[in-house]
Amino acid sequence: MTQQQRKILVTSALPYANGSIHLGHLLEHIQTDIWARFQRMRGHQCYSVCADDAHGTPVMLKAQELGITPEEMVSRTRAEHHQDLLDFHVEYDNYYVTHSEENRELCEDIYNKLDAAGYISKRTISQLFDPEKQMFLPDRFVKGTCPSCGAEDQNGDSCDVCSATYSPTEMKNPRSVVSGATPVLKDSEHFFFDLPKFEGMLKDWLTSGALQGEIANKLQEWFEEGLQQWDISRDAPYFGFEIPGAPNKFFYVWVDAPVGYMASFKHFCNANNVDFDAFWKADSDAELYHFIGKDITYFHCLFWPAMLEGAGLRKPTGVNVHGFVTVNGAKMSKSRGTFIKGRTYLEHLNPEYLRYYFAAKLGAGVTDIDLNFDDFVQKVNSDLVGKVVNIASRCAGFISKRFDGTLSEDIAEPALLAEFQQAADGIAEAFEKRQYNRAVRDIMALADKANQYIDAQAPWVTIKDDDKQKLTHDVCSLGINLFRILMVYLKPVLPKLAEQAEGFLNDTLNWDSAQQVLTGHGINKFKALMQRVDSDKVNAMIEDSKENLEPTSSIDPNSPLAKDPIGETIAFDDFAKVDLRIARIAKAEHVEGADKLLRLQLDLGGETRQVFAGIKSAYAPEDLEGKLTVMVANLAPRKMRFGLSEGMVLAAGPGGKDLWIMEPHEGAQPGMKVK
Ligand code: MSP
Ligand code: ZN
Repeated sequence: MTQQQRKILVTSALPYANGSIHLGHLLEHIQTDIWARFQRMRGHQCYSVCADDAHGTPVMLKAQELGITPEEMVSRTRAEHHQDLLDFHVEYDNYYVTHSEENRELCEDIYNKLDAAGYISKRTISQLFDPEKQMFLPDRFVKGTCPSCGAEDQNGDSCDVCSATYSPTEMKNPRSVVSGATPVLKDSEHFFFDLPKFEGMLKDWLTSGALQGEIANKLQEWFEEGLQQWDISRDAPYFGFEIPGAPNKFFYVWVDAPVGYMASFKHFCNANNVDFDAFWKADSDAELYHFIGKDITYFHCLFWPAMLEGAGLRKPTGVNVHGFVTVNGAKMSKSRGTFIKGRTYLEHLNPEYLRYYFAAKLGAGVTDIDLNFDDFVQKVNSDLVGKVVNIASRCAGFISKRFDGTLSEDIAEPALLAEFQQAADGIAEAFEKRQYNRAVRDIMALADKANQYIDAQAPWVTIKDDDKQKLTHDVCSLGINLFRILMVYLKPVLPKLAEQAEGFLNDTLNWDSAQQVLTGHGINKFKALMQRVDSDKVNAMIEDSKENLEPTSSIDPNSPLAKDPIGETIAFDDFAKVDLRIARIAKAEHVEGADKLLRLQLDLGGETRQVFAGIKSAYAPEDLEGKLTVMVANLAPRKMRFGLSEGMVLAAGPGGKDLWIMEPHEGAQPGMKVK
């Protein structure tokens, strides 16, 4: 296969330096890493860079709280973030930090060009100022009473109760989150970037194929609302870069952050003798892709291309936007233990489980990705351990013990081999288009075929027949070859497993390896390649992630967590939506193949529901029949492996043997509402 070598640079959004890497970030880094590894396996020149986003008010205040300089804090967090990512096998060519000399120079240069071209203007604005702390307050650092509905303790830009949006100057009883002082209005001169001048260019770019359809539509809406001048300066004290020729004025963090992509790459280029300009000049023939989450689309699809264009640089070939990670169907929550840090995950589970699970769910769209832990355990165990690794473990023993560790010279079933090889282009196309879910589906369909083939040939039977030694050798050798091809296709997703497989196969795998066959080739002794996921470890990880609901730190409202408020409490309306009913357990029985579940038939006084309940550890089915219990009657039905579950029964206790279903009495009747 000859293909033109492409020059590609990819980036992931730069994590803020004031929080830990969590599973939400990891979706993005894993998505980027799979794509970059795939491109490299195909023989393209593909660089990937990232960095910590060091600047801004939240980082500055967090460092003050810790009593260290922001530089010191950022350098610690950068190291921690980088190690977290490496431990998930996310490998950037450079993981840098935006507080760098390269970035300062690039920012100044871009700014000077924008200024010279007439895209920068100055205007005095009036903003809330903390007289005690002597600093201007970003919206999120002001709290007060909602001007619209009167709810107290609302953020400076919007009300959680009535959803009104407003300016912090409109709030009643405003106070500074930093010091508690009452803010005063103060004038200051700000610098603005003339975004509206780029409307025509942005409209063309939008139709250039750089964006997903749903993102292009979003941009269209923003055009309709009208583009605004963008405020790019912040007053001291601010942790950032000073604007050239403007003492005590700093670039707003969102100015230098995307330039940080360039700076990280520049640092890499300088150290590795790569031509930086070839990637960034206006007529560059290199491709540039940014992988980002949907919340930062505006910055990447409006401001950033406009800045690049205005400074005479190239624009991104594509901005690849992904949705948000939810856990077990809900926003990640600290109280539920589903706000999981990368490090906590690593203390309990193999990083490749997560890489595989995300890949199996990720498409090219912007929809949110739900990490459902039951599904996670079942998918990893059944696909990776039960299907893929199983192929090798069923064949390898015979090859080493009976055939001298050498694969046969002949292919038992050329048509099957050809089918595996011919799948390469389709799977490559899916990876290229970021339809990893499709790639994984196709790969697992092949794995099923390989297992069916081995089942049908039953080498463990034929090995006992002296006349069938060559057949057994050929069958097992084909099995190993099929496994090898699957590992080629899975290598971008599972680099570590692929590396172990390479050791076993005595071979190196790149994309074209799928078109070759190993015949008469010596392989090494097979060692277990991957353990099953233990659901106890998943539970332990969730336990470890549970945090007490202490009031959140006073200075963190602008952190990524606050941007994504966590549902610690529910409103009364939410509670009122839960339809609790008395149910009589008409029938209870074991479920074949389920360790924890019982199948219950619940009588709701006229209506019968089937519910699967995880209470087998505490109750024998015969102890339950005839009892009354409380159930959630309006839970959306859920398709489980064993059938449809149409509700949930309530039980109390830590689990295991200590679990008690709710047993109402004193006149309760099936079907009654519980209040
Ligand atoms: N520092 C900025 C990005 C600057 S890029 C020039 C930022 N940092 S962040 O730490 O808040 O987010 C980094 C990336 O993680 C963003 O792309 C964001 O969308 C993504 N995610 C943060 N939480 C997420 C989920 N729960 N799920 C998926 N991605 C999420 O924004
Ligand atoms: Zn309100």
